Amino acid sequence: MNKKVIHYFSGIFISLFVGMHLFNHVWGILGAEKHIALMNHLRVVYRNPLIETLLLLAVLVQIISGLLLFKEVRKKSVSFFNKLHVYSGLYLAIFLIIHVSAILGGRLVLKLDTNFYFGVAGLNTFPLNLFFIPYYGLAVFSFFGHIAAIHSKKMQKSVWGVSPVSQSKIILIISFIFIMLIFYGVTNGFQGVNIPKEYKVLVGN
Ligand code: HEM
Ligand code: HEM
Repeated sequence: MNKKVIHYFSGIFISLFVGMHLFNHVWGILGAEKHIALMNHLRVVYRNPLIETLLLLAVLVQIISGLLLFKEVRKKSVSFFNKLHVYSGLYLAIFLIIHVSAILGGRLVLKLDTNFYFGVAGLNTFPLNLFFIPYYGLAVFSFFGHIAAIHSKKMQKSVWGVSPVSQSKIILIISFIFIMLIFYGVTNGFQGVNIPKEYKVLVGN
């Protein structure tokens, strides 16, 4: 099996999780308690030892196969969506390494429940939010950007008079709506979240 086929199937598996995961964060607009309640339901699926092992392995496979593809196609990428494809992938590689290490470190080393408060502590603390806002914003944008680029490459026909390239631009607009909704939820409507004391270790107090 070549790396493109591996990247494709592992990407579909990861996207099933990321779809649930981002929906969970959008659900955060209803408040921390509702976000945590939904996460507890979703964990029954993705924290199942077999599924979580497969997910973490898929993330590793995705990063390695993606970086090999990056090396191969970077110089040939000239159009806007080709460039978006390879550079959104590169950012996802960096983000996934940091994000998954942070989550596993929080769980296994700090023995914290890596719930809503773990995810949002940095986002709600100045000056750490100067890092965390672009860090998470670019992650969500890169995930949708990768999909928009794949769509522009594979989609051949217009729908309701909208060309494939315009359809991909609509996917990018949807990503901005997702980012705004997620940020609204994880910052308690931009007013800031009170971080429980067991999570203060993450923000240095
Ligand atoms: C959430 C994680 C990711 C998903 C869901 C995903 C999904 C995909 C899919 C479905 C394709 C299309 C394969 C095809 O043309 O048949 C693709 C291509 C590609 N991906 Fe990813 N990918 C992810 C992460 C990454 C990472 C971490 C990199 C690292 C740099 C990367 C770099 C690339 C590159 C360079 C291509 C080929 C672009 C081209 O052919 O022009 N991807 N990805
Ligand atoms: C605002 C954006 C995001 C926030 C606040 C966030 C937060 C979190 C939190 C709190 C967890 C722990 C979940 C748990 O303990 O059940 C987690 C896990 C994870 N996240 Fe994210 N995440 C974000 C975006 C993303 C994106 C865009 C991706 C992928 C492209 C991603 C991939 C993952 C993965 C692979 C895990 C590990 C799942 C596991 O095995 O438990 N996250 N994230």
